[in-house]
Amino acid sequence: MEQVRLNNGVTLPILGFGVFQSPPAETVGAVEAALKTGYRLIDTAAAYANEREVGEGIRRSGLSRDEVFIETKVWISDYGYDATLHAFDKSVRKLGVERLDLLILHQPLPSLFDRTLESYRALETLLTDGKVRAIGVSNFMPDLLARLLDVASVVPSVNQIEVHPYFQQRELQRMNAQNGIVTQAWSPIGGITSYRGMPKRSFDDPTLLEIARSYGKTAAQVMLRWHLQEGRSAIPKSVTPARIAENYDVFDFELTREQIAVIDALETGVRGGPEPDSITLEAYGRSIPEA
Ligand SMILES: NC(=O)c1ccc[n+]([C@@H]2O[C@H](COP(=O)([O-])OP(=O)(O)OC[C@H]3O[C@@H](n4cnc5c(N)ncnc54)[C@H](OP(=O)(O)O)[C@@H]3O)[C@@H](O)[C@H]2O)c1
Repeated sequence: MEQVRLNNGVTLPILGFGVFQSPPAETVGAVEAALKTGYRLIDTAAAYANEREVGEGIRRSGLSRDEVFIETKVWISDYGYDATLHAFDKSVRKLGVERLDLLILHQPLPSLFDRTLESYRALETLLTDGKVRAIGVSNFMPDLLARLLDVASVVPSVNQIEVHPYFQQRELQRMNAQNGIVTQAWSPIGGITSYRGMPKRSFDDPTLLEIARSYGKTAAQVMLRWHLQEGRSAIPKSVTPARIAENYDVFDFELTREQIAVIDALETGVRGGPEPDSITLEAYGRSIPEA
């Protein structure tokens, strides 16, 4: 598996496995199947309410702890310095591990940005204390990323953001790269275009299907190849065994430069996820249970 070197020297498997909306009852089996297939990076979050099951899936895989890269996220309700230190404790207890490979802030809180920064300071403390191997952020747009970079002691290793052919956030990707931050694509195969019922559905895209046919592959596999060849980490989610395997079977073909340009041109400018500026505690806050 190709690895991406983070800005602190830690390596991250470029292709990972997501579990957003994976029901707890299906998460253990999905994670176990993913690890058996070959994935070595699992991306979860306190807010997904399935960290316990992710931990169980990892244990059932029989792999040792250091063979699996575990990434999780602090939810906005746990922002603030002490609350974020406690959020780390809750997550590791649920996952059944002592240390995390990557801990990121799930969303900035634009209206409480000082509190967001306090949380990031807690991540820096956890990094210094060796409790996490790398730290990062998610859904930080250029303005708030710049404000974070102005005051942070540690440049985030990763910014996990929505990237699929219909919404690519090129300016933000460039800013990440210029600052040594790895872009990690969420909804990398455009899952959000299906489950949010957007006007265009990535899996049915004629352009992607035509490229896919030329390799005997699927639209999902073409999208994953596109991320990998552009150097982005991608974390597709599935609870369906055949799709878990399909999304990993992307290392035996290569898109041409022209095909990559054609996929780049599918940009619509339409975001699938919530506007990052609209994230408030009132609208999105919810208590993350104790371990
Ligand atoms: N930081 C954030 O704010 C944020 C937001 C969203 C997601 N994420 C992370 O990114 C991960 C991936 O994003 P995502 O789950 O939104 O979207 P995704 O991985 O692009 O797509 C997942 C959806 O596509 C389906 N699917 C999977 N493989 C497929 C295939 N080969 N062919 C057809 N359909 C397929 C899945 O269904 P089945 O499961 O039923 O097979 C699921 O409905 C998440 O799981 C999570 O870890 C982070």
